[in-house]
Amino acid sequence: MIKMAPSILSADLLDLRGQVGKIAENGADYIHVDVMDGHFVPNLTFGPNMVAAMKKLTKVPLDVHLMITNAELYIEEYAKAGADVLTVHAEAVTHLHRAVQQIHANGMKAGVSLNPATPVSVLEDIFEDLELVLIMTVNPGFGGQKFIHRGLDKIAAVKKMMEQRNKPDMLLQVDGGVNTETAPLVAKAGANLLVAGSAVFNAPDSVAAMEAIRKAAQAAL
Ligand code: DX5
Ligand code: ZN
Repeated sequence: MIKMAPSILSADLLDLRGQVGKIAENGADYIHVDVMDGHFVPNLTFGPNMVAAMKKLTKVPLDVHLMITNAELYIEEYAKAGADVLTVHAEAVTHLHRAVQQIHANGMKAGVSLNPATPVSVLEDIFEDLELVLIMTVNPGFGGQKFIHRGLDKIAAVKKMMEQRNKPDMLLQVDGGVNTETAPLVAKAGANLLVAGSAVFNAPDSVAAMEAIRKAAQAAL
């Protein structure tokens, strides 16, 4: 079953309670929170207070995507705020193994994200420790960008690693430019958790849009 993680980045900031509440009550498997620091990525968004606010709003697990440098310094803070899954970027963390251990020690599931130009091979020696791998199909920083098709081979490579290393339950997440056209491609390549921001929250009916993406992905399997 394909899981959906709508990204609040494209939701109406003045109506987060309404928009996120609605999608959370109507089938979202995770709520994806994009944390940007204006340094690792050229945009600034939310911090731990937003995660804490989301935690009060819903019981749906919070999938927090850290696009920040020095992520190690903030792991405990995001755990306290209520993150269920915490994903760091391989490019932004020097001691990736330590960061992943810290995420686990704080009671969260650990994810590692790869930018479009980062090869899957960087996961070789950390793969066993992860609950989630995030393949970016845009350069992180903004919603509404065009899907980078080369990411499909990377998704397939991670899927192969999951099979070879007997990790069938791993979350293989894809983020960036996911819509009804690209969802079948990523699902076919092996993704099982789809992030979608603009395709969900810029649609007239966010729940219908999310389910259309899920259905398109599911149909490709
Ligand atoms: C981009 C973020 C995404 C963003 C995706 O850096 O990580 O989660 O919300 O937006 P769409 O689905 O519009 O590409
Ligand atoms: Zn994201």
